[in-house]
Amino acid sequence: MKDIHILAIESSCDETAAAVVQNGRTVLSNIISSQIAIHTLYGGVVPEIASRKHMEKINQVIEEALSRAGKTLEEMDAIAVTYGPGLVGALLVGVAEAKAIAFALGKPLVGVHHIEGHIAANYIEHPELEPPFLCLVVSGGHTHLVVVRDYDRFELIGRTRDDAAGEAFDKVARAIGLGYPGGPKIDRAAKEGNPEAIAFPRAKVADAPYDFSFSGIKSAVLNYINHAQMTGEHFKPEDLAASFQSAVVGVLTEHAIRAAKEYGFQKVALAGGVASNSCLRARMREACEKRGISLYYPSPILCTDNAAMIGAAGYYEFMKGRRSGLDLNANPSLKLGER
Ligand code: KG4
Ligand code: ZN
Repeated sequence: MKDIHILAIESSCDETAAAVVQNGRTVLSNIISSQIAIHTLYGGVVPEIASRKHMEKINQVIEEALSRAGKTLEEMDAIAVTYGPGLVGALLVGVAEAKAIAFALGKPLVGVHHIEGHIAANYIEHPELEPPFLCLVVSGGHTHLVVVRDYDRFELIGRTRDDAAGEAFDKVARAIGLGYPGGPKIDRAAKEGNPEAIAFPRAKVADAPYDFSFSGIKSAVLNYINHAQMTGEHFKPEDLAASFQSAVVGVLTEHAIRAAKEYGFQKVALAGGVASNSCLRARMREACEKRGISLYYPSPILCTDNAAMIGAAGYYEFMKGRRSGLDLNANPSLKLGER
């Protein structure tokens, strides 16, 4: 059978990324131009700056992806692009670029859901992984428990009611002066701290056993810091980082394991930026080993935003015959499974 090559483009937030993926699981190139340095100056992603930087970088990133893969645009079988969810101006840059290439070269265009991409990142390094399985998606914008019925069929069984897990990491990191992006910095600081030093609440959502709520934990951390500052009490930021992380990871792990048990899944995957978290990986490993569940997660470079994951998801959509028209538009609040 002929190899299928997909050029994938991702620009939903603060990474301008392009990749060439062969047959859905072999990454020939994966180029990421990060804007973290500039957004760090403002303590978070500034949407207007993100769009402008995507425009400056996108052509260069695509050219590099093709040249590293040793391929030409003509050799691509389809162009896959993230069209939501994300920042609308940022998404539009990738979508407009993908449409222009598809139109100019007469190539099929496949719009990809960003979260579907995060889930598909697991296929790249785990050739044996096939649906159905349960996936915990934890990123800066989302916290979802998803039943992956098939490559293109998803059932959302739990979601956050307020902050996403990554968002909580970023806000707490800012409050203890660790800066942006907070997740990796909390992860690092927590290694030097005591996770049992401070007891933070682990919120449950009534009548929705798989839903999450992180705003209570976040507020408790902020209150703790304010109180300490007012009373002049000293605390170790590392203890706070470790205790906060432990509370968040505790809830994530508990929900994922309960869902795996109740739905009868022996395969569980992690996806999204927070899937890099060392404490989450360790606790999930331990919990899964105990129950004979196989656990999958991508390498850190494939956990945070990248285009290889969009190429993987795009391949399966392409093989199922799905095509987007040249009227494809960015959809900042696209729902998982929505077309
Ligand atoms: O998936 P992603 O790159 O972008 C979105 O789609 O949102 O996720 C970014 C999020 C940020 O909130 C970042 O702080 C968090 O992932 N993150 C981490 C770690 N690495 C990245 N959170 C906890 N621990 C980490 N090691
Ligand atoms: Zn993402």
